[in-house]
Amino acid sequence: MYTQSTALSKPSQTNAHLPFFELTDDLYIAQGNRRVCYMHPTDNTLCVKVLKPIFKSDKQLAREIKYAKRYQQLKVSEKHLAGFKGVIHSNKGTGGVFTLVRDANGDISRTLDAYIAQGATQSQVKILTDNLKDYLMHTPIQLSDLAIDNVVVRRGLEHDEIVIIDGAVNSDFFKLCDYSETFRKKKIARKWQRFMSSIEVQY
Ligand SMILES: Nc1ncnc2c1ncn2[C@@H]1O[C@H](COP(=O)(O)OP(=O)(O)O)[C@@H](O)[C@H]1O
Ligand SMILES: [Mg+2]
Repeated sequence: MYTQSTALSKPSQTNAHLPFFELTDDLYIAQGNRRVCYMHPTDNTLCVKVLKPIFKSDKQLAREIKYAKRYQQLKVSEKHLAGFKGVIHSNKGTGGVFTLVRDANGDISRTLDAYIAQGATQSQVKILTDNLKDYLMHTPIQLSDLAIDNVVVRRGLEHDEIVIIDGAVNSDFFKLCDYSETFRKKKIARKWQRFMSSIEVQY
């Protein structure tokens, strides 16, 4: 459906070259500070994120396109990452297409804060965060915003796992972490501290 060139090209001014989809209210999933997330109208394994009308420029989408190309070249594992799959045009504007994270029973996975609110214990969450940290340390992905509502927990049949759904890009002005694995790991370690503290305050 999304050819490589269409999927990963920059959104143009007109978007005429992009496939068009109607995003209706029944497809609404959730929203963050800047974007609204819908189920893809013709593929329920994907979601589409569009900028809220009050925002104008979608720098995040441009970054996502750039880093998706990079991750493809580096053959980055999507075990803990909802992969970026392309760009579409819609009645709500240009949309970024991502893998929609679903639990083993088909439900759309909920954010980590919702998972904790539903009763997950600290030791259950620790297993999930340990696995995520191991992935982040061994996978060359960039993180701009590691936050409790930018990750979801995919509930499996045997075990659950955290999947990053937002912010897997480098938004630094000087992109040292794109070139130095040491800097990348240091940055992740810093973000990790804050992430773990934000989990602790949930208890
Ligand atoms: N790939 C996905 N799978 C499941 N739910 C998602 C996915 N992407 C986003 N969501 C839901 O949509 C919300 C907003 O998405 P997000 O990308 O964080 O928006 P924003 O850019 O505004 O922060 C998330 O908190 C989550 O509940
Ligand atoms: Mg977010």
